[in-house]
Amino acid sequence: MIVKSLELKDYRNYNHLNMQFSSGTNILYGENAQGKTNILEAVYLCGTTKSHRGSKDKEMVSFTEDEAHVRVILEKNQIPHRIDLHLKKNKAKGVAIDGIPIKRQSELFGMLNLVFFSPEDLYIIKNGPAERRRFIDLELCQLDKIYLNQLGNYNKVLAQRNNLLKQIAVNRNLIDTLNIWDEKLLEYGCKVIKTREEFINRLNDLVGEIHKKLTGGKEHLILQYEPNVRAADFEGKLKKYLEKDLALKMTNVGPHRDDLGFLLGDIDIRKYGSQGQQRTAALSCKLAEIDLVKSIIKENPILLLDDVLSELDRQRQNYLLNSIGDIQTMITCTGLEEFVNHRFAYDKVFQVVSGAVNSLEREI
Ligand SMILES: Nc1ncnc2c1ncn2[C@@H]1O[C@H](COP(=O)(O)OP(=O)(O)OP(=O)(O)O)[C@@H](O)[C@H]1O
Ligand SMILES: [Mg+2]
Repeated sequence: MIVKSLELKDYRNYNHLNMQFSSGTNILYGENAQGKTNILEAVYLCGTTKSHRGSKDKEMVSFTEDEAHVRVILEKNQIPHRIDLHLKKNKAKGVAIDGIPIKRQSELFGMLNLVFFSPEDLYIIKNGPAERRRFIDLELCQLDKIYLNQLGNYNKVLAQRNNLLKQIAVNRNLIDTLNIWDEKLLEYGCKVIKTREEFINRLNDLVGEIHKKLTGGKEHLILQYEPNVRAADFEGKLKKYLEKDLALKMTNVGPHRDDLGFLLGDIDIRKYGSQGQQRTAALSCKLAEIDLVKSIIKENPILLLDDVLSELDRQRQNYLLNSIGDIQTMITCTGLEEFVNHRFAYDKVFQVVSGAVNSLEREI
């Protein structure tokens, strides 16, 4: 799949933008705070309906406007498609595929597969488990439509169960209705646990080799799923924690408490890794994801790299640029020197200056 063009209206610092991408490597360069990341964010939004930064819709609409429009024209199996997003400050967003509005995010499934690497990815490793669950879920939801529904159902049931726990504190008689939610929580929860386990195992199979190359053989990275509860033990543990759940008025067991471990040998880099080790591990995960997407959807994803080169030493930059291969890529940077120094071939260059983009049409 290929993103042919992006159109923005009143989105972040863009009043109006229309840009045509090359199917190879696109470089977006410019000084800080000009709008480079905003462009990648808008492309990502069209594939996932979510900001990679976790921003709310109202934060993406231009400060002075009430609504924003984002449009991507893409090509999939040589057939063009249009994705339109209508963001509003105070209402839910509208999404349409080829002019037909969709109701659920899952209808967008498989239209536009993206792998995004941004400086914030460091926090997948550095921050708490919630960030790591978000990483697993964002990636899995792009790859697995069934998971997307199961996770949505699990989260809904969890919210309803927590709500009921609060009501039971006021009216103990309601405790009899808890069973209905427990059954559903177990049903969806076990599926979520199993899918996450399988995904992390597959990612782990790919990540070791990539990380070894990226670090010149110095480090061996292992990803380890750390479920809060194994699927087989979920029912028993849910019963065991009933009194605690009632006392705290929330559900204490389940995949909403999962974590993902990052190990270099015996060392847990979530706690003991250097900043560079953490960043490289995050990058290895993203590169592994490209291979995983390729093998699952049998199509090349689009790679979005935000300000990635300035964070890496020369060896890691080289490995990264060499490993991109033939997939459509959009890279942001503050200058073109790195690419020239590495004799890295790129297809199209855009200069980004305060919410405007000049296409330099430099084909190499
Ligand atoms: N809702 C909004 N309305 C208008 N402007 C916004 C909005 N949200 C963010 N901006 C502005 O967009 C500008 C560009 O942001 P962006 O993150 O794309 O910069 P960048 O070119 O990637 O910079 P850097 O090199 O520092 O990463 C910022 O100055 C920010 O203030
Ligand atoms: Mg940026």
